Amino acid sequence: MIKDESTDIFDLNGRIVVITGGLGQLGTQYAVSLHNKGAKVVILDYDTEFDIETSNLNEINDDNFMFISADVTDKESLGNSLNQILDNWGPPYGLINNAALDSPPNADTSENGPFEEYPVASFEKIMDVNVKGVFLCSQIFGNQMAKNGKGSIVNICSTYGILSPDQRIYEYRLDDGNPFYKPVAYSVSKSALLNMTRYLSTYWAKNAVRVNTLTLGGVFNAQDDRFVKNYTAKIPLARMANEYEYNGAVIFLMSDASLYMTGSNLVIDGGFSAW
Ligand SMILES: NC(=O)c1ccc[n+]([C@@H]2O[C@H](COP(=O)([O-])OP(=O)(O)OC[C@H]3O[C@@H](n4cnc5c(N)ncnc54)[C@H](O)[C@@H]3O)[C@@H](O)[C@H]2O)c1
Repeated sequence: MIKDESTDIFDLNGRIVVITGGLGQLGTQYAVSLHNKGAKVVILDYDTEFDIETSNLNEINDDNFMFISADVTDKESLGNSLNQILDNWGPPYGLINNAALDSPPNADTSENGPFEEYPVASFEKIMDVNVKGVFLCSQIFGNQMAKNGKGSIVNICSTYGILSPDQRIYEYRLDDGNPFYKPVAYSVSKSALLNMTRYLSTYWAKNAVRVNTLTLGGVFNAQDDRFVKNYTAKIPLARMANEYEYNGAVIFLMSDASLYMTGSNLVIDGGFSAW
């Protein structure tokens, strides 16, 4: 059978998609691009001060946009969020588990020292949001998708979840007297998502809920020139990603174009993991 190519397999018209951490650098991108493809977008973020009219999301401030202030580590607040979506729109089709805590290269030394001194509290805080948060959101929203007999969950991972960070990238901070080590918790938390994806993809396959990981390389965000130079040297395409360069993958994973994809890991990293 040859599928009729006149239908847009990337069309998201009316599809309800929840983006956790959707007020961040990449979540905002996903919200606008999914909205532009016709999706009804829910941003779930723990920011309580959010005002859409003064935000860079004002361009999608219409009936197809909803903001919910909630914490991904709090099951009750997620249950309330689901009820709010069901009451206003109906069952979600998509969930992008995007909320996470990271340590950018300018982060404080106290939380980013050598492994031997890495604080237990920092480890727990990162695991709580990056792993337990994904578990709870999948439990609440994924369960609803399973009941509804369709859905797509995307777990956002990082190259640092499939490879060890190369700590030499950050050695310039030693020269400044503020040593920085990319923390173990971020890597461990992100790699945990790879098997959460596989587990849930088989568990919910019978309900036609697809679960995939999207693994991203570093995004340019006006970091220190020395960091950008060291990081870029490890990328075959010789540059960091632009913040909009993952939007196509997210549209693909939320659309019928990826209907036969589950349990997979889509890596977009400028070739970082090929070397
Ligand atoms: N930016 C990069 O270079 C890069 C590279 C690889 C992977 N990633 C991944 O992409 C995702 C988004 O990254 P980003 O750069 O946009 O991050 P960001 O820090 O800009 O945004 C993260 C958002 O998550 C929210 N958040 C944090 N904890 C939360 C909680 N408990 N409940 C609800 N919301 C919470 C924050 O308020 C923030 O809006 C993350 O999973 C990150 O690990 C980013």
